[in-house]
Amino acid sequence: MPATVVIGAQWGDEGKGKIVHLLTQQSDAVVRFNGGCNAGHTVYHKGKKFKLHHLPSGIFYSDKLNILGNGVVVDLGILQEEINYLKESNIEVKNLKISPLINIIMPYHRLFDKVYESESKATLGTTGRGVGPAYTDKVARKGIRIIDLFSPGTLKETLSIVLNEKNRILSEIYHLPGKTLELIYEELLSYRELVLPFVEDTVELIWELLGAGKRLLFEGAQGTFLDIDFGTYPYVTSSHTTVGGACIGAGIPPSKIDKIIGVVKAYTTRVGEGPFPTELKGKEEEKLREVGGEFGTTTGRPRRCGWLDIVMLKLACKINEFTELALTKLDVLSSFSLIKVATTYICEEKLLEKWPYDLKTQKTIKPVYREFEGWEKDISDVENFSKLPKQAQEFIFFLEEELQTKITIISVGPQREQTIIR
Ligand code: GDP
Ligand code: IMO
Ligand code: MG
Repeated sequence: MPATVVIGAQWGDEGKGKIVHLLTQQSDAVVRFNGGCNAGHTVYHKGKKFKLHHLPSGIFYSDKLNILGNGVVVDLGILQEEINYLKESNIEVKNLKISPLINIIMPYHRLFDKVYESESKATLGTTGRGVGPAYTDKVARKGIRIIDLFSPGTLKETLSIVLNEKNRILSEIYHLPGKTLELIYEELLSYRELVLPFVEDTVELIWELLGAGKRLLFEGAQGTFLDIDFGTYPYVTSSHTTVGGACIGAGIPPSKIDKIIGVVKAYTTRVGEGPFPTELKGKEEEKLREVGGEFGTTTGRPRRCGWLDIVMLKLACKINEFTELALTKLDVLSSFSLIKVATTYICEEKLLEKWPYDLKTQKTIKPVYREFEGWEKDISDVENFSKLPKQAQEFIFFLEEELQTKITIISVGPQREQTIIR
């Protein structure tokens, strides 16, 4: 298997970090290809909990390469903090490679993210970390990239033009003070020391690794329904969170990918605004949130919670053509005597079997549920599929049948060991 891609199948926070950390053991390199510090991936390494935003979840293994591909956007201040944070736990970041083509999240991107959210009539509930504005500038060809840090003359010239425009928008539209060119320029130059040991042509590196028969693991950030094209637009993030994003965001041809693992949480969560057909309200939602510990890894916001949605997952299976699935947080459902799964929707008194693309319909459809008897037993130390309660096995068989995809990994707790491999 030259390349495996791990993709979130829902609205993010499916437990990708845990799965990638687990699969890193069988890989030679881990590659992030999309998103920025909006991602929050939780990993338990040697029993200790870590939250990662920029660094790939394989960073704990000193003999594995960890690569930030061209498709990510990086806040160099946050990257620096993350490297220091790992150092406090005696994890030295030496095994990192950074693409020179990465766009940098600038101080004015963070400011614009907050301004857009506070000024807009329909807030999106972004993570406020400047990710959207950084991708906007990338596409508008006004981005500053890592490679620019090493051409100070051109950097200052470009920055001056871009900042002039930003400052005019800030003062004339939003009546806010602008940013100072010298301060931003000096801050950028100060990061050269940080990135210099890590910057490398990652396209060439990936080719060399593939040529040498090494195995690559691509770690997706966010989830399929936050994809800029296929997600619940405009309530999405600004990158391609689906499998194609790995090709564009790392420079790997599709033909090299032979495994695509969809990470599916056994129920559904979402942070921020936007449609969520199976969202629960009241005590049931509170219970799912409490038992599942559903609070944002990046912002600490309570996650919205609801039942699993097969209609969404069917589309995720199509767009990504998952070769297998990792089902996470199955242990959380142990607290429920009745478990529900949406299999279709009702839309204007008619049955709807496919995910609707139009926002109004997404917001108004009502799920039709199939109910499952709960197992109401602690499964967090079960090591074999055959030892799972009968009801849990039936739940898994049902999902496999509906999604026509094998569930090869079942996660029953946050620790790496709490995993059933089939
Ligand atoms: P990611 O963004 O997809 O990497 O997911 P997050 O780390 O944001 O959120 C997943 C949360 O669930 C984290 O707190 C994980 O430690 C935790 N987690 C992952 N897998 C399991 C599991 O199987 N059971 C339980 N109870 N928690 C899990
Ligand atoms: P991981 O990788 C869950 C959501 C935000 C918001 C929308 C846009 O941990 O799964 P952005 O800051 O990206 O412009 O916000 O996307 N969002 C996530 N939700 N998990 C994530 O990442 C997310 N990254 C962004 O809450 O609704
Ligand atoms: Mg997360």
